[in-house]
Amino acid sequence: MCGIVGYIGPREAAPILLDGLSKLEYRGYDSAGLAIYNDGVITVERAVGKLVNLYEKTDGGNKLKGTLGIGHTRWATHGKPNEVNAHPHSSENFSLVHNGIIENEAELRRTYLRDVEFASDTDTEVVVRLLEKFTSEGEEMDVAIMHLIDIIEGSYALAIIDRRDPDHMYAVKNKSPLLVGKGEGFNMIGSDAMAMIAHTDTFYEIQDKEFAIVTRDSVELYTSYSKRIDREPYKAELDLSDISKGTYPHYMLKEIEEQPLVIRRIIGEYQNEAGELTVPEEILADVRDCDKIYIIACGTSYHAGIIGKHFFENIAGKPAESCVASEFVYNTPLLTEKPLFIFISQSGETADSRAVLVKIKEMGYKSITLTNVKGSTLSREADHTLLLYAGPEIAVASTKAYTAQIAVLAILAASVKNRIGIDLKYELALIANTIEGLCGDRELYNRLAEEYIAPSRNCFYIGRGVDYYVCLEAALKLKEISYVQTEGFAAGELKHGTIALIEDGTPVVAVITQSNTNLNTRSNVKEVISRGAKVIRISSKSLSTRKDQIVIGDVHEMLSPLVSVVPAQYLAYYTALHRGCDIDKPRNLAKSVTVE
Ligand code: G6P
Repeated sequence: MCGIVGYIGPREAAPILLDGLSKLEYRGYDSAGLAIYNDGVITVERAVGKLVNLYEKTDGGNKLKGTLGIGHTRWATHGKPNEVNAHPHSSENFSLVHNGIIENEAELRRTYLRDVEFASDTDTEVVVRLLEKFTSEGEEMDVAIMHLIDIIEGSYALAIIDRRDPDHMYAVKNKSPLLVGKGEGFNMIGSDAMAMIAHTDTFYEIQDKEFAIVTRDSVELYTSYSKRIDREPYKAELDLSDISKGTYPHYMLKEIEEQPLVIRRIIGEYQNEAGELTVPEEILADVRDCDKIYIIACGTSYHAGIIGKHFFENIAGKPAESCVASEFVYNTPLLTEKPLFIFISQSGETADSRAVLVKIKEMGYKSITLTNVKGSTLSREADHTLLLYAGPEIAVASTKAYTAQIAVLAILAASVKNRIGIDLKYELALIANTIEGLCGDRELYNRLAEEYIAPSRNCFYIGRGVDYYVCLEAALKLKEISYVQTEGFAAGELKHGTIALIEDGTPVVAVITQSNTNLNTRSNVKEVISRGAKVIRISSKSLSTRKDQIVIGDVHEMLSPLVSVVPAQYLAYYTALHRGCDIDKPRNLAKSVTVE
């Protein structure tokens, strides 16, 4: 989940690398480092903590002279997040940065590196030591790289430089994402396009077990058996302004408030010539043909998946199940005869989800990926892709991607079969307007967060049906960024045990948008109030009472999660703000989790 950038060209590399790394900090941020080549010497600088520490240590990169270099932000998997374990890792001649996990590192150490003294606790150092060994035994660089690909098991994106070679940089990839950015008189390597978009919009994809030899003027791609690959670069439709905060204090706030725009963009993108919302016919054919849909995802995307299940069953009449990817892959349930798999992933790179995709492809089943990132691994490897059109999501806590996922799932379900005659285009347009209205109430959320939630150690979200599904996401949002221990609970289930945790002042947020369960949830609210809870009610207008603090405009009840989640996102944001947390980069988390 770490971030990688490399540069070779005419300009000073270090400031360019630091700028690129700042766009990748979402991938991990417990330490960072640079290795810069200059006149036969590679200088490595590393710093623990956020990138700003490395920035200060190197005076914005100005202390490091040289026009060839690699950089890294780390999210620790092997070894503590300290300076010694920070990347780049080096041997006598090489420096390299790595994203991924070398699964057979112990075996590699035993087989090849018995006599080597290691400087760090990382799996990465094994790779650089192996490279040193193979080249010192006479292997040419390309042969040594192929040797590495041959013996390393696990996931890796690597960028490598050699202190004896001022003209080359190497990129190697398996399972972890890596691109080469093509420039005029310079070239770059990066974990994603955002890290390079300030310099180029043209990229080469590197596929698993391929490697690239990069000079200032050329990019050569090879397979693991030395075959030259003839691959056209592609242009990324990314705008630098998409990834800036603008006047917002945090990306998360910007992304919450982009949700109306995203829903409108989705309406535009999924409209056919007749103005109806639909998806390509070949996708519909596969969905109609299956006997059950298995939705596979992690985190927030899993929460969107649960709502997707609800849509498939209630709108399209198609049996569906939403599954946590990391569980599904090793504890696969009994499958039906003709399953279809839908992968939901903002990043399109999540290793847990990908492991399932690899498995079900081997079993011969069809797949669709819903993702925000065109050309991402899960998109490339599935049979079909439906894009989310949410624009880059930078804050680690997902907001606009979640609502985009739900909107696209609704369009897919209704295109398969619209049993309930829902006018989705009208409903989604109404939802965009309703969210816009909610964005005007920032002060209310701020006050409620400060008064009810921020002072507390724990919190509960309760609801029934789709309100419960929203509660799961609302609870995740709150705990991710404010560290308030929060549980999303089925309102009726609370009394069967967990209500024991309610005491004087415990904040409970009730989500009430479903007419068939309105009164039941309100009874559950009374139960917690009588045990001392302080309750915030989020309700839809037609069901609201005078006591409800947050009232949201009425939308189709089936689609209410798209709206009811918004105040919850704000409550998480303001709670984190009052608790002095780092909202966009919460501790221990990374946005793109490319390890299992
Ligand atoms: C990480 C992020 C979560 C995200 C999950 C799935 O854990 O911190 O916010 O929901 O990965 O990511 P994906 O890109 O597959 O949606």
